[in-house]
Amino acid sequence: MTLLRDADLAHAFDRASRTYDRMTSASPGYHRHLLRSARRLALPDGGRGWSVLDLGCGTGASTRALLRAAPRASVTGVDASAGMLGRARDKPWPPGVSFVHAPVEGMAEAGVRGPYDAVFAAYLFRNVADPDGVLARVREVLRPGGRLVVHEYALGGRAVDRAAWSAVMGAVVLPWGRRHGDGALYRHLWHSVLDFDTAPAFAARLRRAGFTHVRVLPQPGWQTGITHTFTGVAP
Ligand SMILES: C[S@@+](CC[C@H](N)C(=O)[O-])C[C@H]1O[C@@H](n2cnc3c(N)ncnc32)[C@H](O)[C@@H]1O
Repeated sequence: MTLLRDADLAHAFDRASRTYDRMTSASPGYHRHLLRSARRLALPDGGRGWSVLDLGCGTGASTRALLRAAPRASVTGVDASAGMLGRARDKPWPPGVSFVHAPVEGMAEAGVRGPYDAVFAAYLFRNVADPDGVLARVREVLRPGGRLVVHEYALGGRAVDRAAWSAVMGAVVLPWGRRHGDGALYRHLWHSVLDFDTAPAFAARLRRAGFTHVRVLPQPGWQTGITHTFTGVAP
């Protein structure tokens, strides 16, 4: 299957933004798992004085997780989908939270230049056409020693992980997507994960991009072997 990319993907997310929060709220552990990854940024003093970029912030679920983990941090969310971002902007946020409509590949041109103390990216990387190029953009906006946390469906590499992913997709997510007119996006979701790096391969990609102290951490529940947190430090 040809994956959705760039403008086609943004349009698919625009459309799905109407039902996105309902879908994630019904997904067992979605918000808990995001919070677990956000805490893995390990920002001291509630994030006071720390600037964090939330790449692919969507409707703001990851932004909310960041604020729960680090309530004093200032957070800038970036997303290519006007529909998703509009839902995020409509929510109440404390001062220090802002949103920018831009593809991450073009965020510098949209004024997102940093330096930031930390970058969080939840469910972004398997959606981009050039993950190495995006990691280079992330390096540019992070200060030396800045922290990166990626939360992603990157399978563990065992046959059972692929089978579990396809079972969840086939039994729950694809029927739900079709019912709401978003079949193309949820088929993209299914295949983007099967085609993406395994967790060890993505960790190796981070190291090749120059990140140090790279670690891969598991998530519990049905996401075991499916979703991982990746942490790294900018040189
Ligand atoms: C699966 S959603 C995740 C949203 C949010 N981070 C969360 O955890 O709920 C992925 C988001 O990434 C955005 N996205 C995908 N590719 C992008 C790109 N190249 N630049 C900016 N945003 C992108 C989509 O528009 C979508 O809102």
